[in-house]
Amino acid sequence: MLLNFTFIGIMAPVFTIFNPDFSINVEKVPSYANFLSDSGIHGVLIGATSGEGTSLSVKERKNLTEAWAQAVKSTHQHLMVQVGGAPFPDVLELARHAEIAGADSILTMPELYFKPKKPQELISYLRFISAAAPNTPLLYYHNPGHTSVNIDMADFLEQAASQVPNLKGIKYTSNDLAGGYAALKAAHGRYRVFIGGDYLIEPAFALGFDSAIATSMNVFPKYSIGMLEAIKESNLEKAKSLQQNLTRAMNIVTRYGSKVSGMKLAMNLFTPINVGLARPPLQNVNPARIEEIKHSLEQFF
Ligand SMILES: *[C@@H]1O[C@H](CO)[C@@H](O)[C@H](O)[C@H]1NC(C)=O
Ligand SMILES: *[C@@H]1O[C@H](CO)[C@@H](O)[C@H](O)[C@H]1NC(C)=O
Repeated sequence: MLLNFTFIGIMAPVFTIFNPDFSINVEKVPSYANFLSDSGIHGVLIGATSGEGTSLSVKERKNLTEAWAQAVKSTHQHLMVQVGGAPFPDVLELARHAEIAGADSILTMPELYFKPKKPQELISYLRFISAAAPNTPLLYYHNPGHTSVNIDMADFLEQAASQVPNLKGIKYTSNDLAGGYAALKAAHGRYRVFIGGDYLIEPAFALGFDSAIATSMNVFPKYSIGMLEAIKESNLEKAKSLQQNLTRAMNIVTRYGSKVSGMKLAMNLFTPINVGLARPPLQNVNPARIEEIKHSLEQFF
């Protein structure tokens, strides 16, 4: 079967909303989906880094997928579900479940213990996931900073072409922009290559990337949306200024702890959606510093 992956542009990697007792909250998912949609975000990725996917049980991940699948029926956002970072049978089960629940695409990390070292080992892993969800576009999540799996993405895409029938792209989260550009060239337009991360959005767009997924898109979506528009209008000065301002904002957020907990705090302080704290093992921002962060970030909204 020929599967189409049609999403292009800015996708938000959504946070998982936790109640004060750290149970997941799915009741607020529809208002979160609406908030992003009203902010111009037409795609959501669940269960990835910002979504603390690896800190959730299989049951919780399925529950979240179902809640988002329901919510996007009214917002018409593209729903991408990250299924990796769990024991192998669970990854397959999550892939099967995502397909049945109606995900528009599946993203997966590599195996995190028996780490692949060569493109062919990664391809073999992805073939199992592809077989578990054969009717859903599949994307690979390249994020060596977290996974310590650092396979050359250009080599991988060249070799995967004939071997993983529903492979449609990658999320390229690495500061090695030269490697990302090589992957974009190797994709030959057959694959979507999302730039991941908040610091290299403008340089990546300037190199020809057309799609991005980064945490800031939950909280400050105007920066990346603005960058994409500015690049389309060949306004490099504006795109550069937006990236510089976003980078300044990110540097403030990450000064106080992990990026996910800092960005969740910013979301709670500056948007109508309260996503709660980050779940252990992540640590949260010291409450004594909250006023200071709020004060430093105000200028960016
Ligand atoms: C999903 O989670 C919510 C909140 O924890 C719970 O009330 C609900 O029963 C769960 N649903 C499923 C299908 O697990
Ligand atoms: C970036 O921030 C500066 C001041 O902090 C502001 O003057 C400038 O307009 C901002 N750039 C854009 C494109 O919003």
